[in-house]
Amino acid sequence: MKRAPVLVEPHGNVVLLRLASENPLNPLTDELVDALGDALGRIDTDPSVHATVIIGSDKAFAAGADIEAMSVLDYAGAFRQDYIGRNWDCIRTHRKPLIAAVQGYALGGGCELAMMCDIVIAADSATFGQPEVKLGIVPGAGGTQRLPRAVGKSMAMQMCLTGASVSAQQALAAGLVSKVVTPEQLVAEALDIASSIARHSLPVLMAIKEAVGRSFESSLNEGLLFERRLFHAGFALHDQKEGMAAFLQKRAPEFFNK
Ligand code: CAA
Repeated sequence: MKRAPVLVEPHGNVVLLRLASENPLNPLTDELVDALGDALGRIDTDPSVHATVIIGSDKAFAAGADIEAMSVLDYAGAFRQDYIGRNWDCIRTHRKPLIAAVQGYALGGGCELAMMCDIVIAADSATFGQPEVKLGIVPGAGGTQRLPRAVGKSMAMQMCLTGASVSAQQALAAGLVSKVVTPEQLVAEALDIASSIARHSLPVLMAIKEAVGRSFESSLNEGLLFERRLFHAGFALHDQKEGMAAFLQKRAPEFFNK
């Protein structure tokens, strides 16, 4: 029997999604991305899940979009089927915290998938790159837009224009990843970060994700107004009363996610 390309492992109110194609380089075939989208769709509607970790194999987080499938695409076909947009946009619009745990290659769509996540942590074996230029194409899942926001113009230009990769340490120094650990520590570290997120109130986590995401989409004034509205709206939550009461009573809060 063919194994599922995405393995779903529940860890309390955190889910670990393993990209597990037959090819350990995890080319992002439609089958793999569809399965990832399905899993994230279920997580979005499951109130018991607060955060998700996405991990690949020890060889690759993902080596990019499926070059074999793209090699026969023409413009009309790519446009008609909304290639990439059709099944990748649901990752970008996922509403709960996503952590990418990267080891090995994160190239092209693999680097772009990591950048769609909210937090990226890496094993010291990880390499990040946008090698599309070597294939005669432009990055197609956000590389030219998210990479400069993460690492600045010069490094993003260098990566996209040369196609050369950067190491985990370089990615850390540039702000593309927030932590580098050993490969052995990667899963535990990612789950640890996810659990320390997941213990908080779900609607508050979702509002924070929305607000930080808005900072990339709007002017500072608009973003600040959006944040202030969410801040005021938060006073309608039971969990705000509980969180503050718990602080004043010097005890741990018990959030009910409402
Ligand atoms: N798509 C399809 N197949 C891929 C693939 C990909 N992105 N990456 C690797 N493979 C396949 C290879 O064709 C090869 O298949 P066969 O065994 O059938 O020959 C198999 O995986 C193993 O690959 P290699 O022999 O090349 O493995 P390696 O260890 O020598 O090198 C690598 C690893 C450096 C990751 C190399 O495979 C590589 O450069 N891959 C392509 C990376 C890339 O260009 N990614 C960008 C894709 S375009 C994109 O992502 C567009 C976008 O923005 C959405």
